[in-house]
Amino acid sequence: PLVPMSDFLPRAKKEGFAVGQFNMNNLEFTQAIIQAGIEERSPLIFGASEGAIRYMGLNNVVALAKIAAEESGLPVALHLDHGSSYEMVIKCIRAGFSSVMFDGSHYSFEENIRLTKKVVEAAHAAGVSVEAELGTIGGVEDDLNVADEDAKLANPEEAIRFWEETKVDAMAIAVGTAHGMYKGEPKIRFDIIEKVSKNIEVPIVLHGGSGVPDEAIVKSISLGVGKINVNTENQVASSKVIRELLEANPDMIDPRKYLGPGREAIKEVVKQKMRLFGSSGKA
Ligand code: G3H
Ligand code: ZN
Repeated sequence: PLVPMSDFLPRAKKEGFAVGQFNMNNLEFTQAIIQAGIEERSPLIFGASEGAIRYMGLNNVVALAKIAAEESGLPVALHLDHGSSYEMVIKCIRAGFSSVMFDGSHYSFEENIRLTKKVVEAAHAAGVSVEAELGTIGGVEDDLNVADEDAKLANPEEAIRFWEETKVDAMAIAVGTAHGMYKGEPKIRFDIIEKVSKNIEVPIVLHGGSGVPDEAIVKSISLGVGKINVNTENQVASSKVIRELLEANPDMIDPRKYLGPGREAIKEVVKQKMRLFGSSGKA
């Protein structure tokens, strides 16, 4: 069945590995991600953004994730990515999500704490895990569009206090990564990761995992990152394969002929990430 992230994140923090959140955008993404988990024997988190939920339909998202989790026998969480309101969080919990992110980073610090506490109370009562965000992560992802100058690093003292007050299961803190492919090398504030991770009991979440150099990923995990989100690299890999196939075969009309190879490309990226994050073999 679908499980909360708290079923595997404490072990990740203790043993020094990270569990990937891979966004499910359609049937093929879902199949590729779970197949990668089966082949790598890895726990995994299906991320569903509000845009993906609108596109696929809330009940379809839950049905696909539930079946994938049950048939694979793996520890799998279905996680609302960047939940923008208390109402949306409750809607997803009611529909069968096993984990939710409440992204209160655009509220004031106090308001973010107040709303996040409400989410934690409701989610934990339903056995659902909670991720919160502090600081503002840059870049573009679905409806989220944060200009570089508006991206705001998390303040470590605030992040520690935020966790003490809310007791969320995972803390997303803005440390210099951004959604989407990077223009240059992301400058990650490892000092912030280290300071916060040392003073809270739950893993740090790294958003904008696509395009972060491997050594920076490994270093961030060693300092306390236990969940890493990846979406863009999977979109780049699959769209490249599909575009080449359609350009080379103008009479290719069967969607399985090009979506299938796109699915394979996603699976390969996800398997590599599971090995890099150290979650392979941890199911
Ligand atoms: O929440 C989703 C991730 O942060 C996506 O980031 O597209 O840069 O991999 P990414
Ligand atoms: Zn994100």
